[in-house]
Amino acid sequence: EWWADEKKSQTPESKAIEEAAQFLRTSDLPVAFPTETVYGLGADATRSASVRGIYRAKQRPSDNPLIVHIDSLEMLGRLLNPSPRPGSPNSAKTRHMSIPPIYNPLLERFWPGPLTIILPNPSGSALAPEVTSNLMTFGVRMPSSVLARLLIHVTDRPLAAPSANASTKPSPTTAQHVYHDLHGRIDLILDGGASGVGVESTVVDGLCDPPAILRPGGIGIEELRKCAGWENVTVAYNDGTLDVKEVPRAPGMKYRHYSPKARVVLFEASSNLAGVKRHVQKDLQDSAIGAHNIGIVRTRNWPQGLGLASDEVLASTLQPVSSAIENLLSFPVPVQETGSPSSRTKLAYDYHLGSDTSANAHGLFAALRALDELDVDVIYVEGISDRDGDLAAAVMNRLRKAAGTEMKV
Ligand code: TXA
Ligand code: MG
Repeated sequence: EWWADEKKSQTPESKAIEEAAQFLRTSDLPVAFPTETVYGLGADATRSASVRGIYRAKQRPSDNPLIVHIDSLEMLGRLLNPSPRPGSPNSAKTRHMSIPPIYNPLLERFWPGPLTIILPNPSGSALAPEVTSNLMTFGVRMPSSVLARLLIHVTDRPLAAPSANASTKPSPTTAQHVYHDLHGRIDLILDGGASGVGVESTVVDGLCDPPAILRPGGIGIEELRKCAGWENVTVAYNDGTLDVKEVPRAPGMKYRHYSPKARVVLFEASSNLAGVKRHVQKDLQDSAIGAHNIGIVRTRNWPQGLGLASDEVLASTLQPVSSAIENLLSFPVPVQETGSPSSRTKLAYDYHLGSDTSANAHGLFAALRALDELDVDVIYVEGISDRDGDLAAAVMNRLRKAAGTEMKV
């Protein structure tokens, strides 16, 4: 088999995967690994001690269930049909449990990929109860990241994995982000470079009628609606814009999340630039901190950034912010203090996330983290329109949680 050849040739990659797999099978400390969405913090989903290690390392509330990651439908089949314990009264009449057919069109189209489905947890399940937080269901996905699937395959266990950030922080899209949050708490990070998608998987529940989206993510509602049985899929998360009154059904959606240290101020996509400038100025004057470092995260509507240099109101307090930074994740240009005692801003950092939605999703968490590293006090973010499609809705869902609210000026 291909992996056997790989193993024989003992490349650094194959050795790293072997080591991580061995660690996952035997240690109670979780292992961080890349996926196409964000980095995950993995543990053998069948061992309680190892799953508890995830909650401990992340300091995650224990009522927030984890997603199970599989490498194949065969592995999922085994999870759904646990072999009966020898001598158990039911062993004779074993019932075969399969994936509910409503999911078939989704799995054909989106697996492997950023889609998590909710399934009934069978009696006698091999999953540690900590994975499901004692719910009757479990969430499962097959990642499209080859490295992730290979790790699961070599470990030969389903891996429970939340995002590999410290609880409440933005999700990690690089190994460095994971190291920043969790060093000293875990022993091993598999580095597979930056995650492609940048926001987490879409979580859907097809066990209810009509089916529901529990968390927006890499696969959008319009794409789901094209699938048979999913035409009337409902939205069961509340991010403040949609008319949803119920309590969020994915337990994780009720927690503070994606929050950098800095205060985040989110402007609605249709906000006008003059209004934003006025708001920023007033905000800086009102707040108690004497001098501020600020960050600006632009998406597409402010081609010159805030145009601070030419702005009369802010000219005395802010130096020009380079409008030349167009590249995703380019290092921001520091702006020197004006020297005037009335100066209220020390440094302004300007990030342009690129002008299409997938670039916005890809760079979002990294930008929030980078600005935190630069010790900014406030981050002003230019929102994008939910109507720009599903990934845009997922980006705005994360931003609203980071900011608390969204404003229109
Ligand atoms: O893209 C992703 O999904 C990433 C990567 C690592 O795969 N994982 C991830 O996991 O985002 P986490 O733990 O940060 O988020 C899991 C979400 C939470 O909102 C949780 O409440 C929900 O899925 N969830 C898990 N199991 C559930 C269940 N049985 N019923 C309802 N919601 C569930
Ligand atoms: Mg998370």
